[in-house]
Amino acid sequence: MVLIAPSLLSADFSNLRADIEFINQSNADWFHLDIMDGVFVPNISFGLPVVKAVQKYATKPLDVHLMITNPDAYISQFRDAGADWLTVHYEACTHLHRTVQSIHQAGIKAGVSINPHTPVSVLEHIICDVDLILIMSVNPGFGGQSFIPESLQKIKELQALIKRKHSKALIEVDGGIDTSNAAQVIAHGAQVLVAGNAIFSATDRNFVINSIKNNC
Ligand code: DX5
Ligand code: ZN
Repeated sequence: MVLIAPSLLSADFSNLRADIEFINQSNADWFHLDIMDGVFVPNISFGLPVVKAVQKYATKPLDVHLMITNPDAYISQFRDAGADWLTVHYEACTHLHRTVQSIHQAGIKAGVSINPHTPVSVLEHIICDVDLILIMSVNPGFGGQSFIPESLQKIKELQALIKRKHSKALIEVDGGIDTSNAAQVIAHGAQVLVAGNAIFSATDRNFVINSIKNNC
């Protein structure tokens, strides 16, 4: 069964508590939190105090997606703020293997994300060390963008790599997911779907979550 991780980037920040409670009572599985530093991506979202505040009320795992340079400097702080899963970008880590080790040493699950232009093949020698690979299906930085169709091929390639290397990594896909494309994304091998705009802009948000979970 596919896991759904609503992205709080599209939540109502003036009433975040209500949106946290909504996710708690819904059939969603994780909270997806997008951390942007205005350097790695051309946008600034929110940081540690907000993650901490979410943790206070969230009853489901926190899936923290770091779109920041030098993530190594903040691993223990995000762990302390409540991250259960901490995903860094391949493109932001010169010593990715060491970064993944540090996340594990902090006692939490480690993920690696790749941008739309980054080939799956760069993951060959890290795939057995990570718990999750996050395929960006839009260019990171903003919610509400359109799904890049080429991502489907990358999901398939990743699934083949995971199989060939006997890795246990989960395949997460992030960006432009909605009820019109989720079934296809799942059919190509995605196991965790992030959705921001599609859920939070809907009049019936539970319907969107349930539709995606039931493969639309
Ligand atoms: C984009 C973020 C995504 C984003 C997804 O940089 O990583 O998590 O919030 O939002 P939608 O579903 O609106 O594309
Ligand atoms: Zn994200």
